[in-house]
Amino acid sequence: MAKIKSVYVCQNCGAESPKWIGKCSSCGEWNSYVEEVIRKETPSKAVHNVDTAQSKPVRIEEVESTTEQRMDTYSAEFNRVLGGGLVGGSLVLLGGEPGIGKSTLILQVALNMVNKKVLYVSGEESVKQLKLRSERLLKPASECFVVSETSLEQIFVHIKNVQPDIVVIDSIQTISTEYAESSPGSVTQVRECSAALLKFAKESGIPVLLIGHINKEGSIAGPKVLEHIVDTVLQFEGDQNYMYRILRANKNRFGSTAELGIFEMLQNGLREVTNPSELLLSQNHEGLSGVAIASAIEGIRPFLIEAQALVSTAAYGTPQRSSTGFDIRRMNMLLAVLEKRAGFKLAQKDVFLNIAGGLKVNDPAIDLAIITSILSSSMDIALERHICMAGEVGLSGEIRPVNRIEQRILEAEKLGFKKIIIPDYNLHKSDKNTRFSIEVIKAKKVEDAFRV
Ligand code: TYD
Ligand code: MG
Repeated sequence: MAKIKSVYVCQNCGAESPKWIGKCSSCGEWNSYVEEVIRKETPSKAVHNVDTAQSKPVRIEEVESTTEQRMDTYSAEFNRVLGGGLVGGSLVLLGGEPGIGKSTLILQVALNMVNKKVLYVSGEESVKQLKLRSERLLKPASECFVVSETSLEQIFVHIKNVQPDIVVIDSIQTISTEYAESSPGSVTQVRECSAALLKFAKESGIPVLLIGHINKEGSIAGPKVLEHIVDTVLQFEGDQNYMYRILRANKNRFGSTAELGIFEMLQNGLREVTNPSELLLSQNHEGLSGVAIASAIEGIRPFLIEAQALVSTAAYGTPQRSSTGFDIRRMNMLLAVLEKRAGFKLAQKDVFLNIAGGLKVNDPAIDLAIITSILSSSMDIALERHICMAGEVGLSGEIRPVNRIEQRILEAEKLGFKKIIIPDYNLHKSDKNTRFSIEVIKAKKVEDAFRV
């Protein structure tokens, strides 16, 4: 017998409450409770009956160890972020802001996998729209089946008929099941549907790719609830105004989360960027002040990025500080270091900072390039063209060692730089610097770097 139950669910974290409350006691979000009706089948009494247990615990040594079957997605970047390909029976969530290119990425991957049958279920676009998109992508015709569907029960029927090797759901927020009566996109629907898809993936060994939206207001159920359920959470990010898109794994049960894929959005789809450094350096900035190049590592790949700074006298009382692609608190800290330890007067200056290419960089090794670009702009002195740097700056103005310095030096060398400034300590550790053809300069303090 079906039992109708109505609960209030926090749309932010999924907490439930029997009555409406203004502030979620679990995540602290205001005004996030929405009434949802759940129709539950009365659970059979046998659930807690030991005799009817269907699976049997086994000793861990007895479990057959098989290396996971991984499917090649024919996209080196996508494979790498997944940890070497798509694992059979895994549930993968690809999240990202609307319009960033999630559907494009997945459809492109689906079209490329010519020897696999892919079922692409779209709850957002019609079959015609998908066709138009696929024509734009200019990819080989393949065994890619598309259907426009929002009912989970119907999707399972399609899966049964098509017998695909891979299932794609675009997007999880548009799918709904009959067993929950709340609207598509609510926490209950998202949770129920993804749990059902997880069960399907595990039982059939067919990988399921889910696309999920994140929006800044959090008014639809963000993939936060989903993250616990799925095996892998990929995030597709980038600035709408730039072509570059970064794919990273936030959680991966089958691989490392340090990997990073870089794509460029073109007229005919996403292009893989295999050598990011060349794209991220602006071609011509000779003689311009305020530009410094850092040898950064994101994920496990080194690449060179350009820090641009503009320092000018504040027009109004309070100086402005703004930063794109770099943590503004860290920039304020670096400005304080410059002020206090190196004696530069920046308190009355506006400081604007930008990382070229619209990327967000978390690597602390770019500190040195940041402060160099700020000083270069402040004093209006351009840097030598063929110099780059890597080093974290500490609170007392010391340059602290960074990891994997050799990779950073090699990357700079590969791109034709003549000099690289690195932390002094890094070279004590490895005195093998003789094999670099690039000139390696050690710096202990911020002042040493400036002298160079
Ligand atoms: P889309 O994949 O629809 O985004 P999402 O599924 O994440 O919401 O991509 C949307 C943007 O990508 C759109 O603004 C147009 C652009 N685009 C290209 O630049 N080139 C292309 O080949 C395609 C298909 C889309
Ligand atoms: Mg889409």
